Amino acid sequence: MPPAPTTTRTPTYTRRHLLALQGLEAEEIRALLAATRRHANGPVSRQGGDGAPARSVGLLFFEASTRTRVSFTVAAQRLGLFVLDCSGPGTSAAKGETLIDTARTIESNGVDALVVRHAASGAAAIVSAHVKCPVINAGDGRHEHPTQGLIDAYTLLEAHGRLEGFDASGLRIAIVGDVAHSRVARSACAALRALGAEVIFVGPPSLCPPSMSALGARVSHELDPLIPDIDGVMALRVQFERAATLASAREYRALYQVDERRASLMKPGAIVMHPGPMNRGLEIASTVADGPRSVIRRQVEIGVAVRMGVFETLLTPAIG
Ligand code: NCD
Repeated sequence: MPPAPTTTRTPTYTRRHLLALQGLEAEEIRALLAATRRHANGPVSRQGGDGAPARSVGLLFFEASTRTRVSFTVAAQRLGLFVLDCSGPGTSAAKGETLIDTARTIESNGVDALVVRHAASGAAAIVSAHVKCPVINAGDGRHEHPTQGLIDAYTLLEAHGRLEGFDASGLRIAIVGDVAHSRVARSACAALRALGAEVIFVGPPSLCPPSMSALGARVSHELDPLIPDIDGVMALRVQFERAATLASAREYRALYQVDERRASLMKPGAIVMHPGPMNRGLEIASTVADGPRSVIRRQVEIGVAVRMGVFETLLTPAIG
């Protein structure tokens, strides 16, 4: 009998929106990481002016942001997309317009995708139910920040030489700090677990309650015993604006700061990540943030590639 033809299934992402990583199949996450990889090592930019009709994306940021907003803007520009930045206090939201009305108004101006950041969990999903164009969640309350989760997964895989197949099995990652209020922790956990990694949430019970294990991660209130066995640590900011409180900053540092001593006890090749913005000297020591294990700047670079990949995926066949 002739051998059965071997078909390599190319992973695809066929959903209209990108609202969350929780609930995605591993193959869908791999498809987005594959799209990232096309842009991860240098600008494969495509300028407009090739006769194709101009496409545009609307940015709707109702919450403070530097890196995410800049990164989405650069990604769009590299793909030759126009950016309509309708963010901030200058919008009609400040006049009492609802989120849905604002989003629909922007869409009616002809944008081909909307990028939404909002302090309320579920905001991007609500917008997606009321507009026709793809919606990308750029962070909604404490729910999800899917492009950041893709950044974290990609950066980890790259650092450990796992880009072929995007397979994170056997890797163990500690996500440390204010897990309870963190959309980044939720998205990163979903991506890393789907790709086979083990995730441990670490922090004091007030910021990392046992119930967080519902996301498929182990919960620990102690960092030190884990340090020699992990392949990466991601420090999270204490999100005071989301009602997080710290009984004692000194005690927090002593127990949970990713500091020089802890970094020196990690395995060779183990990495230090942080989604930013960092509070240097609180959740992470400045010397570690800038030290040899740190891939924090690489996370920022990968941010552009992830967002280019996501735009391409959701706007296909519109781009290219
Ligand atoms: C985070 C966010 O806003 O969710 N930052 C980011 O987008 N990279 C994390 C934070 O605010 O601490």
